[in-house]
Amino acid sequence: MAAQIGTALALRSTDRFADVGCGTGLFTREIARLLLPQHPLLCVDPFAAMLKQVEDSGRLLPVQASAEDLAAQRIKLRYALLDAVLVKEAPAQGSSRP
Ligand SMILES: C[S@@+](CC[C@H](N)C(=O)[O-])C[C@H]1O[C@@H](n2cnc3c(N)ncnc32)[C@H](O)[C@@H]1O
Repeated sequence: MAAQIGTALALRSTDRFADVGCGTGLFTREIARLLLPQHPLLCVDPFAAMLKQVEDSGRLLPVQASAEDLAAQRIKLRYALLDAVLVKEAPAQGSSRP
């Protein structure tokens, strides 16, 4: 599935990428393994317990924030602009639906 995500988003190794609602980073880690990114992939999740499981291999950068924090620009990311954003199975705040 990570390969399919990479193809669907036409990811390139030079992309500045964020996985919003990354959870444990399961998919981001695999995307990084396939992509060999030149810039760390941002693993964004509001829950510290999830981010603790994001392995710091130098290719992934954990960021504690919600999608709403990003949308409202309450959080300053390492990159001013992103080339690609993945939101996979992450619910909106106050929503019971993914
Ligand atoms: C079902 S998991 C999906 C994890 C990963 N995207 C995947 O597909 O394996 C949902 C994730 O969304 C995160 N999440 C919940 N509310 C969120 C929000 N408002 N903004 C961003 N992420 C959120 C949860 O902490 C959890 O890690």
